[in-house]
Amino acid sequence: MSILLEVKDVTRTFGALKALDGVSLSLRKGEILGIAGPNGSGKSTLFNVISGIPFHATTGLISYDDQEITRVRPHEIYRAGLARTFQKDCEFSSLSVRDNVLVGAHFSSLREEMHDDTAIEYALDLVGVEESKRSQKAENLSVFDKKRVMIASSVVSKPKLLMLDEPASGLTKPEVNQLCELILAINRTGVAILVIEHIIALLLKVAPRLLILNEGKLLAEGTASEIIVNKDVIEAYLGGSTHP
Ligand SMILES: Nc1ncnc2c1ncn2[C@@H]1O[C@H](COP(=O)(O)OP(=O)(O)O)[C@@H](O)[C@H]1O
Ligand SMILES: [Mg+2]
Repeated sequence: MSILLEVKDVTRTFGALKALDGVSLSLRKGEILGIAGPNGSGKSTLFNVISGIPFHATTGLISYDDQEITRVRPHEIYRAGLARTFQKDCEFSSLSVRDNVLVGAHFSSLREEMHDDTAIEYALDLVGVEESKRSQKAENLSVFDKKRVMIASSVVSKPKLLMLDEPASGLTKPEVNQLCELILAINRTGVAILVIEHIIALLLKVAPRLLILNEGKLLAEGTASEIIVNKDVIEAYLGGSTHP
């Protein structure tokens, strides 16, 4: 399988702080890669510099789909098919469910197609938001439905790469299982996925390969079964338990 995303020796500094310190990774087309690590280890910063939202890398190189995107503007990166979610429930809580997804469609390369609503209904079908909820304000939905809406706002752009930042936070155990099914269903449509998550059980279910960040550096990379027995990872992150 060919490479979709390549991050080479990327650094992001904030004053004296190195939030990312020489991180490299590559992701193949259609692959799911899980990312974990302690709070403040640079996981969200990594998504920020890849997507360009809200800032770029300080040094290093990022290529996506054979194009260098290190300093490309965020809306152009999104239009090229790289979509992300944020560590929150949904984007625009005072807008309706459909309008949230419409915003995602509007800034995508599908601007023309969106007029017939097909793309919006497709995205909401894919994430499993019931039709009866689609005209409601997003703020009235359950936490899980709000998360589905945020994911729908990304998948509406028909991305080649979807980056999910801690999508399971605040979900119950059965909901986490449903989220795993959803991530796998999106992946089956051909979308590569980078997923940041603290819930190791979720990563073990969806991601054949994991990457662990610690203090802005890559601590370990490997298959899930390699990672959960890696001594450095247990010491810095797992704290002796594979089921935090
Ligand atoms: N915009 C910013 N300005 C200053 N410091 C930041 C900014 N964004 C992140 N940081 C710092 O960078 C480090 C990594 O943060 P982050 O990537 O959010 O961690 P994680 O997502 O792994 O919890 C933290 O020390 C955080 O305080
Ligand atoms: Mg984070």
